[in-house]
Amino acid sequence: MPRIRQHVNPLKSDLLEIEDVPRIEVDPERALEVELGAAEAHFLLERAQRDRRSAFVGVEIRHELVEAVNAECARSGLANVRSVFANMSVDLPRLFRDGSVHRFFLNFPDPWFKSRQHKRRVIGPGLVAEIARAIVRGGEVFVMTDIFELALDAMAELETSGQFDNEYGPWTFSRENPYDAKSRRERQCEAEGVPIWRLIYRRRLIDLRATAESLPAP
Ligand SMILES: C[S@@+](CC[C@H](N)C(=O)[O-])C[C@H]1O[C@@H](n2cnc3c(N)ncnc32)[C@H](O)[C@@H]1O
Repeated sequence: MPRIRQHVNPLKSDLLEIEDVPRIEVDPERALEVELGAAEAHFLLERAQRDRRSAFVGVEIRHELVEAVNAECARSGLANVRSVFANMSVDLPRLFRDGSVHRFFLNFPDPWFKSRQHKRRVIGPGLVAEIARAIVRGGEVFVMTDIFELALDAMAELETSGQFDNEYGPWTFSRENPYDAKSRRERQCEAEGVPIWRLIYRRRLIDLRATAESLPAP
C-alpha cells in the first residue's frame, strides 16, 4: 500500500491544473449522486450497494485514495460507483454538466484550523455557485461536519445564496443523516461521542435572484 498523505493543500499549483479530469456522463434514466472529498468513499460504497440503479461518483484530491477506491469497486463488482481525481475547488465545471447531479454530499470537509490556512477551506461562494449550476432543480445538498464553525459557515453560504431552501426551515440543522450510509469520519465521531452538525438544502425550482434581477425597475 503506498503512503497516503493526511492532507493536501488544494491551492497547490499542480492541484489547480489536474490533467485529464473526466466529463461525467450518466444515462439520463439514472440519478447521479456525488460526494465531494470522498476519501475512502465508504459512504458512497454503502449507498451504491443499496441502490444499484443510481450512479455514484466520489471526487477526491488524493490520487492514492482514488486508485484504492476504484480497485475496491473492481474487486467487489460495484459497477455503479467510481472515484475521480479532481479538485472540487476548480474542477466542477469540467466534471459536471448543468443540472446533471441529483445529490451532492460534503461529508467532513477538511477544517484547516489555523487562520492563515482558512483560504484552503472548500465551502465558499464559488463552490456553492458551482453546486447550484450542476445540480438539478429540486436536488439535495447534504453537509456534515464535527466543526461547528464550519457548519455555520456552510449554512450561511447556502442560506444567503438565494438558490437553496433549508429542508427543515431557515437556519436549522438536520437531526440525522437520512441516507442510510455512513462515512468513515462519521463512524469515528459517533464511536468517540463527538457531536456532528448536519444540514440539508434543496435547489430551488425558481432562482429568486435571477427573477429579481430580471424585474423591471418600479
Ligand atoms: C476529512 S476528509 C473526509 C473524508 C470522507 N468524506 C469522510 O467523511 O470520511 C476530507 C477529504 O476531502 C479531500 N479534499 C480536500 N480538499 C479537496 C478538494 N479541493 N477537492 C477534492 N477533495 C478534497 C481530502 O483529501 C480528504 O480526503
